[in-house]
Amino acid sequence: MYLTREEERMLSGEYGEYVRKAMEVVVKVGEMLGAERLVEVVHAHVSGVSIFNIGEPGLHLIEEMASAGTKFSVFTTVNPYAAVDAEFSGRRLGGDVIRKQMRVVNALTRMGGRAFTCAPYHIRIPKKGEHLAWAESNAVLYANSVAGAMTLREGGPMALMEAIVGRAPMAGPHLPENRVPDSLVALENVRDGASAAAAGYIMGKHFHSPDVVPYVVGLPRQEEHVRLFLAAFGASGSSPMAVIEGITPDYKELLARGDIQDKLVIGEGDIRQYVKEAVADADVGLIGCPHLSREEALKILEELGDGARRELWVFTGAHVGADVIEALRRKGVRVLVGQCPVVTRLSLLGIESVITDSGKALHYLPKLAGVRAHLISREHILRWARGE
Ligand code: F3S
Repeated sequence: MYLTREEERMLSGEYGEYVRKAMEVVVKVGEMLGAERLVEVVHAHVSGVSIFNIGEPGLHLIEEMASAGTKFSVFTTVNPYAAVDAEFSGRRLGGDVIRKQMRVVNALTRMGGRAFTCAPYHIRIPKKGEHLAWAESNAVLYANSVAGAMTLREGGPMALMEAIVGRAPMAGPHLPENRVPDSLVALENVRDGASAAAAGYIMGKHFHSPDVVPYVVGLPRQEEHVRLFLAAFGASGSSPMAVIEGITPDYKELLARGDIQDKLVIGEGDIRQYVKEAVADADVGLIGCPHLSREEALKILEELGDGARRELWVFTGAHVGADVIEALRRKGVRVLVGQCPVVTRLSLLGIESVITDSGKALHYLPKLAGVRAHLISREHILRWARGE
């Protein structure tokens, strides 16, 4: 692989041992992907920071790096961590878990991590044509499909290395030829976030190749629905990108250059198999997977009326603003900032059943959090939370 003189210096250890190791990993993975060179990235997003996932070995590696003075060389954001807020779950998860999780958070902050959220596009809006090194599938799909930026669908450790060296392999969606659609997906009757999530989930299950780039017709332009759609697609599938009619920059040109080989129609009957109208046995209503924007949080605040009478959990980042967080809390909502429900063992908190409008949560909660999950519209969740 061709390396610049600066990259050679990183690889020779001139900038320290962890920069050398990080560059070694990035180059090796790049060679495996067939990349001819690396590309400089402007924003890295690191995932996989829950103490439940990385355990002691992950904690020690990150702390060692931070103690050695290793810094992220580009703007870097980090995925949410386990929901260890003491008043929420910390005591029941055990003091040891909460302490270790906060050590991970502190070490990543010392290295330069700016914010903990799975919506890094709310922290720094990616520009069209920019190269990024993002992990976290919903964010990757948003960057490539909505912003027109370019990123591989990285794993957490790889994005950590890329954040240190500020480079990614020039492969996958970094190359224009890998961004053209090869399949057509027609959505019928997608009218709210939950049906968008169901459609994304079905689409991800349908395509098995990690390289597929579907061309999607029939998705309403509403930002929160698009994000729920992409997050669900990312959970059940492995593609880094979709071209969405009316949304993806240059979608007409991309379609004209594409070679459509496969067609999938997702109709109302398919969506109804996933979206429930009512659920009787929920312990918790969960919104914010992916993390809410300020606009979404304000809308929830307005729609809550007199407040929540049942357990409503909202996941978001500090980007929604302290005023909104406080106002939601005053309405009886549990607001978890910088944290993720899916990477938390909710079963340890006595939770058995959750209702959510997130297809990603639907996919992962039973496996990772040990609870039953039902997909239902946000409108229904808020009605349930109000006690209606
Ligand atoms: Fe975010 Fe956790 Fe959902 S990282 S997308 S809240 S699974």
